[in-house]
Amino acid sequence: MAKVTYITPSGNEVVVEDAIGNIMEIAREYDVEGIEGACSGCCSCATCHVRVKPEWLDKTGRATEAEQDLIDLESDTDERSRLSCQIEMTDDLDGLVVEVAPF
Ligand code: FES
Repeated sequence: MAKVTYITPSGNEVVVEDAIGNIMEIAREYDVEGIEGACSGCCSCATCHVRVKPEWLDKTGRATEAEQDLIDLESDTDERSRLSCQIEMTDDLDGLVVEVAPF
């Protein structure tokens, strides 16, 4: 079972213990504030922007070129920015922490 923690723009933590799917889908299932997922994971909206905690970047990897093109259109981005629909939860990511970007 893989666990993911979301830190919302309000500073609340949402912990999902049995996370299956991608980080956007899981967030929507648990009504995580700030994750809209308007394109349902097609990598075309950026309404699922998160920042990965630095200690997890090696495991999640950095944004792909297609992600980065969308991230560049957003505000409040940095080198940790990812589109959460592009991060698939795996056992390897058990304990992952992401910050939901303000919208
Ligand atoms: Fe649209 Fe992630 S849900 S880019």
